[in-house]
Amino acid sequence: MDRIRIVGGSKLNGTIPISGAKNAALPLMIAGLLTDETLILDNVPRLADVAQLQRILGNHGVDIMSAGKRPGDHEYQGQTLHISAANIIDTTAPYELVSKMRASFWVIAPLLARMHEAKVSLPGGCAIGTRPVDLLIMALEKLGAELTIDGGYVIAKAPGGLKGAEIDFAKVTVSGTHVALMAATLAKGTTVITNAACEPEIVDVADCLNKMGARITGAGTTTITVEGVAKLHGTRHTVLPDRIETGTYAMAVAMTGGDVQLSGARPELLQAALDVLVEAGATVTPNNDGIRVARNGAGIKPVNVSTAPFPGFPTDLQAQLMALMTTAKGSSHITETIFENRFMHVQELARFGARIHLDGETATIDGTAKLRGAPVMATDLRASVSLVIAGLVAEGETMVNRIYHLDRGFERLEEKLSACGATIERISG
Ligand code: UD1
Repeated sequence: MDRIRIVGGSKLNGTIPISGAKNAALPLMIAGLLTDETLILDNVPRLADVAQLQRILGNHGVDIMSAGKRPGDHEYQGQTLHISAANIIDTTAPYELVSKMRASFWVIAPLLARMHEAKVSLPGGCAIGTRPVDLLIMALEKLGAELTIDGGYVIAKAPGGLKGAEIDFAKVTVSGTHVALMAATLAKGTTVITNAACEPEIVDVADCLNKMGARITGAGTTTITVEGVAKLHGTRHTVLPDRIETGTYAMAVAMTGGDVQLSGARPELLQAALDVLVEAGATVTPNNDGIRVARNGAGIKPVNVSTAPFPGFPTDLQAQLMALMTTAKGSSHITETIFENRFMHVQELARFGARIHLDGETATIDGTAKLRGAPVMATDLRASVSLVIAGLVAEGETMVNRIYHLDRGFERLEEKLSACGATIERISG
Protein backbone atom coordinates (compact mmCIF):
# COMPACT_ATOMS: atom_id res chain seq x y z
CA MET A 1 0.00 0.00 0.00
CA ASP A 2 1.33 3.48 -0.87
CA ARG A 3 2.71 5.74 1.85
CA ILE A 4 3.80 9.36 1.94
CA ARG A 5 7.16 10.29 3.45
CA ILE A 6 7.71 13.85 4.59
CA VAL A 7 10.76 15.52 6.08
CA GLY A 8 9.52 18.63 7.84
CA GLY A 9 11.06 22.04 8.16
CA SER A 10 10.89 23.65 4.70
CA LYS A 11 8.85 26.77 4.06
CA LEU A 12 6.42 26.66 1.16
CA ASN A 13 7.10 29.12 -1.66
CA GLY A 14 5.69 29.16 -5.19
CA THR A 15 2.39 28.49 -6.92
CA ILE A 16 -0.18 25.76 -6.29
CA PRO A 17 -2.86 25.25 -8.96
CA ILE A 18 -6.28 24.56 -7.42
CA SER A 19 -8.25 21.68 -8.93
CA GLY A 20 -11.97 21.39 -9.61
CA ALA A 21 -14.11 20.69 -6.54
CA LYS A 22 -14.65 17.02 -5.75
CA ASN A 23 -17.89 17.83 -3.95
CA ALA A 24 -19.29 19.54 -7.05
CA ALA A 25 -17.87 17.10 -9.61
CA LEU A 26 -19.56 14.08 -7.98
CA PRO A 27 -23.17 15.45 -7.99
CA LEU A 28 -22.60 17.00 -11.44
CA MET A 29 -21.62 13.59 -12.82
CA ILE A 30 -24.69 12.08 -11.14
CA ALA A 31 -26.85 14.79 -12.73
CA GLY A 32 -25.82 13.33 -16.09
CA LEU A 33 -28.34 10.54 -15.37
CA LEU A 34 -31.18 13.06 -15.72
CA THR A 35 -30.87 13.40 -19.49
CA ASP A 36 -30.51 11.14 -22.54
CA GLU A 37 -28.28 13.78 -24.12
CA THR A 38 -24.54 14.27 -23.43
CA LEU A 39 -23.39 16.34 -20.46
CA ILE A 40 -19.85 17.65 -20.89
CA LEU A 41 -18.01 18.55 -17.68
CA ASP A 42 -14.72 20.46 -17.75
CA ASN A 43 -12.21 20.82 -14.90
CA VAL A 44 -13.12 17.48 -13.32
CA PRO A 45 -10.38 16.55 -10.82
CA ARG A 46 -8.44 13.30 -11.30
CA LEU A 47 -9.39 11.61 -8.05
CA ALA A 48 -10.12 8.09 -6.86
CA ASP A 49 -13.71 9.11 -5.96
CA VAL A 50 -14.32 10.37 -9.51
CA ALA A 51 -12.99 7.11 -10.97
CA GLN A 52 -15.18 5.14 -8.57
CA LEU A 53 -18.27 7.12 -9.58
CA GLN A 54 -17.41 6.46 -13.24
CA ARG A 55 -17.62 2.72 -12.45
CA ILE A 56 -20.94 3.17 -10.65
CA LEU A 57 -22.47 5.19 -13.48
CA GLY A 58 -21.08 2.68 -15.97
CA ASN A 59 -23.04 -0.02 -14.19
CA HIS A 60 -26.26 1.92 -14.92
CA GLY A 61 -25.34 1.99 -18.62
CA VAL A 62 -23.80 5.45 -18.73
CA ASP A 63 -20.98 5.94 -21.26
CA ILE A 64 -18.26 8.24 -20.01
CA MET A 65 -15.58 9.42 -22.37
CA SER A 66 -12.56 11.16 -20.93
CA ALA A 67 -10.87 13.41 -23.48
CA GLY A 68 -7.05 13.22 -23.55
CA LYS A 69 -4.77 16.19 -23.03
CA ARG A 70 -4.25 18.65 -25.89
CA PRO A 71 -1.05 20.48 -26.83
CA GLY A 72 -0.69 23.47 -24.52
CA ASP A 73 -2.77 21.93 -21.72
CA HIS A 74 -1.25 22.48 -18.30
CA GLU A 75 -0.09 19.32 -16.52
CA TYR A 76 -2.49 20.06 -13.66
CA GLN A 77 -5.48 20.86 -15.86
CA GLY A 78 -8.60 18.93 -14.89
CA GLN A 79 -10.11 16.37 -17.22
CA THR A 80 -13.09 16.79 -19.51
CA LEU A 81 -15.76 14.10 -19.18
CA HIS A 82 -18.45 13.43 -21.78
CA ILE A 83 -21.26 11.75 -19.88
CA SER A 84 -23.96 10.06 -21.90
CA ALA A 85 -26.90 8.36 -20.19
CA ALA A 86 -28.82 7.76 -23.44
CA ASN A 87 -29.82 4.30 -22.26
CA ILE A 88 -30.14 3.49 -18.59
CA ILE A 89 -30.05 -0.29 -18.63
CA ASP A 90 -29.91 -0.97 -14.89
CA THR A 91 -31.54 1.03 -12.07
CA THR A 92 -29.78 -0.89 -9.30
CA ALA A 93 -26.73 0.50 -7.51
CA PRO A 94 -25.19 -2.53 -5.79
CA TYR A 95 -23.66 -2.70 -2.33
CA GLU A 96 -20.17 -3.54 -3.65
CA LEU A 97 -20.05 -0.18 -5.44
CA VAL A 98 -22.07 2.13 -3.13
CA SER A 99 -20.26 0.98 0.01
CA LYS A 100 -17.00 2.41 -1.35
CA MET A 101 -18.33 5.96 -1.63
CA ARG A 102 -21.26 7.51 0.22
CA ALA A 103 -22.14 10.12 -2.40
CA SER A 104 -22.98 7.37 -4.89
CA PHE A 105 -26.23 6.84 -2.94
CA TRP A 106 -27.39 10.10 -4.53
CA VAL A 107 -27.99 8.30 -7.87
CA ILE A 108 -31.34 7.38 -6.33
CA ALA A 109 -32.66 10.88 -7.17
CA PRO A 110 -32.07 11.05 -10.94
CA LEU A 111 -32.97 7.38 -11.39
CA LEU A 112 -36.32 7.91 -9.65
CA ALA A 113 -36.97 11.16 -11.48
CA ARG A 114 -36.25 9.81 -14.95
CA MET A 115 -36.86 6.05 -14.72
CA HIS A 116 -39.48 6.18 -11.91
CA GLU A 117 -37.64 3.41 -10.07
CA ALA A 118 -34.36 2.75 -8.31
CA LYS A 119 -32.81 0.15 -6.05
CA VAL A 120 -29.82 1.57 -4.23
CA SER A 121 -27.76 0.02 -1.45
CA LEU A 122 -27.73 1.92 1.83
CA PRO A 123 -24.29 3.47 2.16
CA GLY A 124 -23.53 1.95 5.56
CA GLY A 125 -21.15 3.09 8.28
CA CYS A 126 -18.46 5.67 7.92
CA ALA A 127 -15.41 6.78 9.85
CA ILE A 128 -16.92 10.15 10.70
CA GLY A 129 -20.13 9.30 12.50
CA THR A 130 -23.34 7.54 11.63
CA ARG A 131 -24.22 9.79 8.65
CA PRO A 132 -27.81 8.59 8.12
CA VAL A 133 -29.89 9.10 4.95
CA ASP A 134 -33.26 9.65 6.69
CA LEU A 135 -33.58 13.20 5.38
CA LEU A 136 -32.90 12.10 1.80
CA ILE A 137 -35.60 9.45 2.13
CA MET A 138 -38.00 12.03 3.62
CA ALA A 139 -37.40 14.36 0.66
CA LEU A 140 -38.06 11.63 -1.91
CA GLU A 141 -41.22 10.50 -0.08
CA LYS A 142 -42.51 14.08 -0.08
CA LEU A 143 -42.01 14.07 -3.85
CA GLY A 144 -44.36 11.07 -4.03
CA ALA A 145 -41.93 8.16 -4.12
CA GLU A 146 -42.78 4.92 -2.31
CA LEU A 147 -39.74 3.66 -0.50
CA THR A 148 -39.10 0.37 1.25
CA ILE A 149 -35.92 -1.02 2.75
CA ASP A 150 -35.16 -4.65 2.02
CA GLY A 151 -31.91 -6.55 2.40
CA GLY A 152 -29.91 -3.38 2.93
CA TYR A 153 -31.32 -1.74 -0.19
CA VAL A 154 -33.66 1.21 -0.56
CA ILE A 155 -36.23 0.21 -3.15
CA ALA A 156 -37.90 3.30 -4.56
CA LYS A 157 -40.83 3.54 -6.96
CA ALA A 158 -42.81 6.44 -8.40
CA PRO A 159 -45.12 4.78 -10.96
CA GLY A 160 -46.71 7.98 -12.26
CA GLY A 161 -43.52 10.04 -11.85
CA LEU A 162 -42.53 12.40 -9.02
CA LYS A 163 -44.75 15.31 -8.01
CA GLY A 164 -43.67 18.75 -6.78
CA ALA A 165 -43.89 19.24 -3.00
CA GLU A 166 -42.81 21.33 -0.05
CA ILE A 167 -39.66 19.89 1.51
CA ASP A 168 -38.54 21.35 4.81
CA PHE A 169 -35.25 19.99 6.16
CA ALA A 170 -35.10 19.74 9.95
CA LYS A 171 -31.32 19.98 9.67
CA VAL A 172 -29.14 21.62 7.01
CA THR A 173 -27.96 18.80 4.76
CA VAL A 174 -25.85 19.04 1.63
CA SER A 175 -26.73 15.51 0.53
CA GLY A 176 -30.44 16.07 1.19
CA THR A 177 -30.44 19.32 -0.77
CA HIS A 178 -28.63 17.73 -3.76
CA VAL A 179 -31.07 14.83 -3.82
CA ALA A 180 -34.19 17.01 -3.47
CA LEU A 181 -32.94 19.39 -6.16
CA MET A 182 -32.11 16.72 -8.71
CA ALA A 183 -35.32 14.79 -8.11
CA ALA A 184 -37.50 17.93 -8.32
CA THR A 185 -36.18 19.00 -11.74
CA LEU A 186 -38.28 16.34 -13.50
CA ALA A 187 -41.23 16.29 -11.03
CA LYS A 188 -44.66 17.51 -12.11
CA GLY A 189 -45.32 20.93 -10.59
CA THR A 190 -43.44 23.15 -8.17
CA THR A 191 -41.12 22.10 -5.35
CA VAL A 192 -40.07 24.45 -2.58
CA ILE A 193 -37.08 23.35 -0.49
CA THR A 194 -36.70 25.21 2.81
CA ASN A 195 -33.72 25.19 5.20
CA ALA A 196 -31.73 24.20 2.11
CA ALA A 197 -27.94 23.96 2.26
CA CYS A 198 -26.27 27.07 0.77
CA GLU A 199 -22.90 25.48 -0.07
CA PRO A 200 -21.25 26.75 -3.30
CA GLU A 201 -21.35 23.21 -4.72
CA ILE A 202 -25.18 23.30 -4.52
CA VAL A 203 -25.12 26.53 -6.52
CA ASP A 204 -22.75 25.00 -9.08
CA VAL A 205 -25.03 21.99 -9.57
CA ALA A 206 -28.12 24.22 -9.81
CA ASP A 207 -26.36 26.37 -12.44
CA CYS A 208 -25.56 23.27 -14.48
CA LEU A 209 -29.11 21.90 -14.11
CA ASN A 210 -30.52 25.25 -15.28
CA LYS A 211 -28.25 25.09 -18.35
CA MET A 212 -29.75 21.61 -18.93
CA GLY A 213 -33.21 23.18 -19.01
CA ALA A 214 -34.23 22.96 -15.34
CA ARG A 215 -36.06 25.87 -13.72
CA ILE A 216 -34.39 26.44 -10.37
CA THR A 217 -34.30 29.71 -8.45
CA GLY A 218 -32.86 30.55 -5.05
CA ALA A 219 -29.87 28.16 -5.01
CA GLY A 220 -27.32 29.57 -2.57
CA THR A 221 -30.10 30.73 -0.23
CA THR A 222 -32.07 28.70 2.30
CA THR A 223 -35.17 28.55 0.05
CA ILE A 224 -34.87 26.91 -3.36
CA THR A 225 -37.79 26.75 -5.78
CA VAL A 226 -37.90 24.25 -8.62
CA GLU A 227 -40.51 24.31 -11.39
CA GLY A 228 -40.52 20.78 -12.78
CA VAL A 229 -39.94 20.28 -16.51
CA ALA A 230 -40.72 17.27 -18.73
CA LYS A 231 -37.19 16.76 -20.04
CA LEU A 232 -33.63 17.96 -19.56
CA HIS A 233 -31.03 18.25 -22.30
CA GLY A 234 -27.25 18.14 -22.58
CA THR A 235 -24.92 21.07 -21.88
CA ARG A 236 -21.31 21.95 -21.11
CA HIS A 237 -20.27 23.06 -17.64
CA THR A 238 -17.00 23.84 -15.84
CA VAL A 239 -16.64 22.52 -12.27
CA LEU A 240 -15.93 25.31 -9.77
CA PRO A 241 -12.58 25.38 -7.91
CA ASP A 242 -12.20 23.27 -4.77
CA ARG A 243 -12.58 25.49 -1.69
CA ILE A 244 -11.46 22.71 0.65
CA GLU A 245 -8.27 22.09 -1.32
CA THR A 246 -7.74 25.87 -1.34
CA GLY A 247 -8.21 26.14 2.43
CA THR A 248 -5.99 23.11 3.03
CA TYR A 249 -3.01 24.60 1.17
CA ALA A 250 -3.66 28.00 2.73
CA MET A 251 -3.36 26.36 6.16
CA ALA A 252 -0.24 24.49 5.08
CA VAL A 253 1.44 27.81 4.16
CA ALA A 254 0.30 29.37 7.43
CA MET A 255 1.84 26.37 9.19
CA THR A 256 5.25 26.31 7.46
CA GLY A 257 5.62 30.01 6.71
CA GLY A 258 6.49 31.18 3.20
CA ASP A 259 4.51 32.72 0.36
CA VAL A 260 2.27 30.79 -2.02
CA GLN A 261 -0.09 31.77 -4.84
CA LEU A 262 -3.18 29.54 -4.89
CA SER A 263 -3.87 29.77 -8.57
CA GLY A 264 -7.50 29.62 -9.69
CA ALA A 265 -8.88 29.82 -6.12
CA ARG A 266 -11.94 31.97 -5.42
CA PRO A 267 -11.88 33.78 -2.05
CA GLU A 268 -15.65 34.16 -1.78
CA LEU A 269 -15.96 30.35 -1.59
CA LEU A 270 -14.13 30.22 1.75
CA GLN A 271 -14.25 33.67 3.32
CA ALA A 272 -14.86 32.33 6.85
CA ALA A 273 -11.74 30.15 6.67
CA LEU A 274 -9.63 32.98 5.22
CA ASP A 275 -10.79 35.26 8.06
CA VAL A 276 -9.62 32.66 10.59
CA LEU A 277 -6.23 32.43 8.87
CA VAL A 278 -5.81 36.21 9.07
CA GLU A 279 -6.74 36.08 12.75
CA ALA A 280 -4.07 33.39 13.18
CA GLY A 281 -1.46 35.69 11.68
CA ALA A 282 -1.34 34.82 7.98
CA THR A 283 -1.48 37.42 5.22
CA VAL A 284 -4.23 36.66 2.72
CA THR A 285 -4.39 38.67 -0.51
CA PRO A 286 -7.02 37.96 -3.16
CA ASN A 287 -5.77 38.82 -6.66
CA ASN A 288 -6.64 38.26 -10.33
CA ASP A 289 -5.18 34.76 -10.40
CA GLY A 290 -6.62 33.53 -7.09
CA ILE A 291 -5.39 34.02 -3.54
CA ARG A 292 -1.90 34.68 -2.21
CA VAL A 293 -1.20 33.39 1.29
CA ALA A 294 1.93 34.21 3.27
CA ARG A 295 3.31 34.09 6.77
CA ASN A 296 6.67 35.61 7.46
CA GLY A 297 8.31 35.76 10.85
CA ALA A 298 5.32 36.20 13.12
CA GLY A 299 4.18 33.15 15.08
CA ILE A 300 0.73 31.55 14.84
CA LYS A 301 -1.91 33.09 17.09
CA PRO A 302 -4.53 30.83 18.74
CA VAL A 303 -8.16 31.02 17.54
CA ASN A 304 -11.58 29.82 18.71
CA VAL A 305 -13.70 28.36 15.92
CA SER A 306 -16.94 26.39 15.52
CA THR A 307 -17.74 24.58 12.31
CA ALA A 308 -21.03 25.53 10.66
CA PRO A 309 -22.89 25.11 7.38
CA PHE A 310 -21.86 27.54 4.61
CA PRO A 311 -21.04 30.45 4.88
CA GLY A 312 -19.59 29.36 8.25
CA PHE A 313 -16.27 27.63 8.84
CA PRO A 314 -16.42 24.29 6.96
CA THR A 315 -16.23 21.01 8.83
CA ASP A 316 -14.01 19.77 5.98
CA LEU A 317 -11.27 22.19 7.15
CA GLN A 318 -11.60 21.43 10.86
CA ALA A 319 -8.81 18.83 11.01
CA GLN A 320 -6.43 21.04 9.01
CA LEU A 321 -7.07 24.01 11.32
CA MET A 322 -6.41 21.78 14.30
CA ALA A 323 -3.04 20.78 12.84
CA LEU A 324 -2.22 24.47 12.40
CA MET A 325 -3.18 25.31 15.97
CA THR A 326 -0.88 22.62 17.41
CA THR A 327 2.03 25.08 17.03
CA ALA A 328 0.13 28.28 17.98
CA LYS A 329 1.36 30.47 20.84
CA GLY A 330 -1.40 29.66 23.33
CA SER A 331 -4.63 27.64 23.58
CA SER A 332 -7.24 27.31 20.84
CA HIS A 333 -10.73 25.84 20.93
CA ILE A 334 -12.33 24.10 17.97
CA THR A 335 -15.94 22.89 18.17
CA GLU A 336 -17.34 20.45 15.62
CA THR A 337 -21.08 20.99 15.13
CA ILE A 338 -21.75 19.10 11.86
CA PHE A 339 -20.53 15.55 12.38
CA GLU A 340 -20.29 13.51 15.54
CA ASN A 341 -17.03 11.66 16.05
CA ARG A 342 -15.07 13.77 13.56
CA PHE A 343 -11.96 13.82 15.72
CA MET A 344 -10.15 10.74 14.42
CA HIS A 345 -7.12 12.93 13.70
CA VAL A 346 -6.66 13.91 17.37
CA GLN A 347 -4.90 10.74 18.44
CA GLU A 348 -2.73 10.76 15.32
CA LEU A 349 -1.75 14.44 15.83
CA ALA A 350 -0.78 13.47 19.39
CA ARG A 351 1.88 11.20 17.86
CA PHE A 352 3.68 14.35 16.68
CA GLY A 353 3.69 15.64 20.28
CA ALA A 354 0.58 17.82 19.84
CA ARG A 355 -1.33 18.56 23.04
CA ILE A 356 -5.06 18.23 22.40
CA HIS A 357 -7.79 17.63 24.95
CA LEU A 358 -11.27 16.53 23.85
CA ASP A 359 -14.40 17.43 25.77
CA GLY A 360 -17.52 16.34 23.91
CA GLU A 361 -17.61 18.24 20.63
CA THR A 362 -14.89 20.70 21.60
CA ALA A 363 -11.15 20.23 21.28
CA THR A 364 -8.74 22.37 23.26
CA ILE A 365 -5.35 22.62 21.60
CA ASP A 366 -2.42 23.84 23.67
CA GLY A 367 0.18 25.04 21.21
CA THR A 368 3.64 23.57 21.44
CA ALA A 369 6.87 25.08 20.07
CA LYS A 370 7.91 21.96 18.19
CA LEU A 371 6.29 18.90 16.60
CA ARG A 372 8.35 15.79 15.98
CA GLY A 373 7.93 13.53 12.94
CA ALA A 374 6.24 10.17 13.49
CA PRO A 375 4.63 7.26 11.66
CA VAL A 376 0.90 8.05 11.47
CA MET A 377 -2.22 6.49 9.98
CA ALA A 378 -4.65 8.29 7.69
CA THR A 379 -8.26 7.71 8.84
CA ASP A 380 -10.71 9.75 6.77
CA LEU A 381 -10.13 12.11 3.88
CA ARG A 382 -9.74 15.46 5.64
CA ALA A 383 -8.09 13.97 8.74
CA SER A 384 -5.41 12.47 6.48
CA VAL A 385 -4.36 15.80 5.07
CA SER A 386 -4.11 17.32 8.56
CA LEU A 387 -1.35 14.77 9.22
CA VAL A 388 0.45 15.92 6.07
CA ILE A 389 0.23 19.55 7.28
CA ALA A 390 1.67 18.60 10.66
CA GLY A 391 4.41 16.57 8.95
CA LEU A 392 5.48 19.62 6.93
CA VAL A 393 6.70 21.39 10.08
CA ALA A 394 7.57 18.43 12.29
CA GLU A 395 11.24 17.88 12.96
CA GLY A 396 12.55 14.80 11.16
CA GLU A 397 10.66 12.16 9.20
CA THR A 398 6.92 11.54 9.07
CA MET A 399 5.46 8.53 7.33
CA VAL A 400 1.73 8.77 6.52
CA ASN A 401 0.27 5.29 6.07
CA ARG A 402 -3.01 4.25 4.40
CA ILE A 403 -3.04 7.22 2.03
CA TYR A 404 -5.83 5.96 -0.22
CA HIS A 405 -8.03 8.40 1.68
CA LEU A 406 -5.86 11.27 0.38
CA ASP A 407 -6.15 10.03 -3.20
CA ARG A 408 -9.94 10.16 -2.86
CA GLY A 409 -9.89 13.93 -2.46
CA PHE A 410 -6.54 15.55 -3.22
CA GLU A 411 -5.16 15.56 -6.74
CA ARG A 412 -1.35 15.18 -6.97
CA LEU A 413 -0.90 16.37 -3.39
CA GLU A 414 2.77 15.45 -3.07
CA GLU A 415 3.63 16.97 -6.48
CA LYS A 416 1.90 20.25 -5.66
CA LEU A 417 3.67 20.54 -2.29
CA SER A 418 7.11 19.45 -3.46
CA ALA A 419 6.95 22.01 -6.29
CA CYS A 420 6.77 24.63 -3.50
CA GLY A 421 9.84 23.32 -1.68
CA ALA A 422 8.40 20.66 0.65
CA THR A 423 10.35 17.42 1.08
CA ILE A 424 7.52 14.97 0.40
CA GLU A 425 7.38 11.82 -1.69
CA ARG A 426 5.10 8.90 -2.36
CA ILE A 427 6.51 5.49 -1.61
CA SER A 428 4.69 2.88 -3.67
CA GLY A 429 3.96 -0.66 -2.61
C1 UD1 B 1 -21.21 16.76 2.28
C2 UD1 B 1 -19.80 16.73 1.78
C3 UD1 B 1 -18.82 16.58 2.93
C4 UD1 B 1 -19.07 17.64 3.97
C5 UD1 B 1 -20.54 17.72 4.37
C6 UD1 B 1 -20.86 18.90 5.28
C7 UD1 B 1 -19.97 15.80 -0.46
C8 UD1 B 1 -19.69 14.65 -1.37
N1 UD1 B 1 -19.65 15.62 0.83
O1 UD1 B 1 -21.45 15.52 2.93
O2 UD1 B 1 -17.49 16.67 2.41
O3 UD1 B 1 -18.30 17.38 5.12
O4 UD1 B 1 -21.36 17.85 3.21
O5 UD1 B 1 -20.49 20.09 4.68
O6 UD1 B 1 -20.46 16.83 -0.88
N2 UD1 B 1 -27.73 14.02 8.13
C9 UD1 B 1 -28.79 13.38 8.70
N3 UD1 B 1 -29.69 12.73 7.89
C10 UD1 B 1 -29.55 12.72 6.54
C11 UD1 B 1 -28.45 13.39 5.94
C12 UD1 B 1 -27.56 14.03 6.78
O7 UD1 B 1 -28.93 13.37 9.92
O8 UD1 B 1 -30.39 12.12 5.85
C13 UD1 B 1 -26.75 14.70 9.00
C14 UD1 B 1 -25.34 14.13 8.88
O9 UD1 B 1 -25.15 13.00 9.68
C15 UD1 B 1 -24.51 15.31 9.35
C16 UD1 B 1 -25.30 16.51 8.83
O10 UD1 B 1 -26.63 16.05 8.58
O11 UD1 B 1 -24.47 15.35 10.75
C17 UD1 B 1 -24.77 17.13 7.57
O12 UD1 B 1 -24.66 16.12 6.58
P1 UD1 B 1 -24.67 16.47 5.03
O13 UD1 B 1 -24.65 17.96 4.88
O14 UD1 B 1 -25.77 15.74 4.36
O15 UD1 B 1 -23.27 15.90 4.55
P2 UD1 B 1 -22.95 15.09 3.21
O16 UD1 B 1 -23.78 15.61 2.11
O17 UD1 B 1 -22.94 13.64 3.50
